[in-house]
Amino acid sequence: MSSSTAAPPLHEALTPLAWLVGTWRGEEGTGDYPTIKDFKYKEEVKFDHVGQPNLEFSFNSSHYETGKPLHREKGFLKIQPGTSHLAMVNTQNVGIVELSEGEVKGQEITLESHTIGRMTFGKDPAVTKIQRTFRLVDPDTLEQVVHMETSATTPAQHHLSIQYKKV
Ligand code: HEM
Repeated sequence: MSSSTAAPPLHEALTPLAWLVGTWRGEEGTGDYPTIKDFKYKEEVKFDHVGQPNLEFSFNSSHYETGKPLHREKGFLKIQPGTSHLAMVNTQNVGIVELSEGEVKGQEITLESHTIGRMTFGKDPAVTKIQRTFRLVDPDTLEQVVHMETSATTPAQHHLSIQYKKV
């Protein structure tokens, strides 16, 4: 293989996020919300980089029994160099663009949206806030928990919890 295709080193600004890089597979996610039926799902998550001071990610969920693709997300996780401050730029296949900010503390990330863009023909209810935590439970286990708000008057409620194993 030529040297031009060798994996670049992780940008030094990303050192606080090095524990996240890789492919993670969750086989037993659980979802709920006051307005829907409880459900289970699977999800594969990838965090990758090209040597820039941001991680690229994809979150691809699938139906628990049939494996049919469901909710999908792609985007970037950016770190303010020299700080623990993070921004997530996330496009979702349901027609939402999420801009969230937060902190990385050790091996835990907390993010909260400050802007959610929505297609003019998106389904109701509109999502008005998304809160996420990512936590490294052990070197091979990553956890994501998502809360969301669907109207300015409804406080955030739990939507998703999943643990992923490193592939
Ligand atoms: C329902 C948003 C991720 C599965 C919903 C609803 C919203 C929503 C607004 C409708 C709630 C209602 O009718 O009151 C989001 C957002 C996500 C997300 C913002 C990411 C941050 C996921 C993921 C899955 C999922 C990863 C995995 C399969 C479902 C299911 C329903 C649902 C099964 C109920 C059926 C349906 O209405 O399609 N979600 N969701 N969601 N979500 Fe999510």
